[in-house]
Amino acid sequence: MDQLEGKNIVVAGGTGRVGEGLVRSFLSEGAQVIVPVRSTSKEQRLRSYVEGIETGRLICLPTHIGEEGSIQAFRNRVLEEYERVDMAVACLGGWYYGYPLHRMPYGDWQMILHDNLNTHFLFMKNFLSILHDQNDGQFVMINGSPSEMIIPEEGATSIVAAAQAMMSRALAEEAKTTHVRVYSVTVYNPVRTRDRGQTVMPDWPTAEDLGTISSSSSQARRRISSRRFTRSIRSTTSERRHPRTVPQ
Ligand SMILES: NC(=O)c1ccc[n+]([C@@H]2O[C@H](COP(=O)([O-])OP(=O)(O)OC[C@H]3O[C@@H](n4cnc5c(N)ncnc54)[C@H](OP(=O)(O)O)[C@@H]3O)[C@@H](O)[C@H]2O)c1
Repeated sequence: MDQLEGKNIVVAGGTGRVGEGLVRSFLSEGAQVIVPVRSTSKEQRLRSYVEGIETGRLICLPTHIGEEGSIQAFRNRVLEEYERVDMAVACLGGWYYGYPLHRMPYGDWQMILHDNLNTHFLFMKNFLSILHDQNDGQFVMINGSPSEMIIPEEGATSIVAAAQAMMSRALAEEAKTTHVRVYSVTVYNPVRTRDRGQTVMPDWPTAEDLGTISSSSSQARRRISSRRFTRSIRSTTSERRHPRTVPQ
């Protein structure tokens, strides 16, 4: 157990429905988990969700990921106080539905670009650069079925999810000759998050399962995915599409 003991893991979106499960999973494995938080009520909600876990340590730092100055200050503080980052996970964004694209208000378009892409860019720029400076660590992007599937009146969600998937592929390509590992975990079913309660199907993964998958080696990721989530999860790892030069 405690396979992540001594590791520093930053989870952007750690106060979200899926993100809180990732945080819980990493703490259970003994990691020090650092979460940027923009609301005290969300921080309290996360803290109460993990309070029974005796391993690991949760650190919440007030941050607005979508603001360049704030995420830079967060980056500096993490480096000053914790010195290195072993894993950075982006579990950001929201679902958008209700309009065909040609009726969608421009303000909504700007909002979804900001929440689902700008946040990813700013987090990646600030934290993947740490991994590159260390020439070590893993960067994980959580994504969903809209990255490959289109539903009418939810088109905006698919556009940003597809862009996010392409971002992870570009980042993986750029990290190819380094010891930095970049991949996305794409979840094709809904996740059994806390807020769904009993309204779930047995073959949906839990948010904690995604934590286990995110922190596993590439071999273990494939093994877990095929054993337990054959239809639920496909780990669109960078290494499948772009064989890495550095073995994990
Ligand atoms: N939920 C599912 O069933 C499911 C299924 C498959 C895949 N996924 C994937 O999981 C990922 C997360 O989804 P989720 O359901 O956990 O979403 P969520 O509950 O809405 O959480 C999104 C997180 O992103 C943060 N965020 C959004 N916009 C932001 C902004 N402008 N500035 C700072 N933080 C911002 C939120 O911060 P706050 O907490 O402060 O609001 C929250 O922590 C997505 O990539 C999604 O495709 C989810």
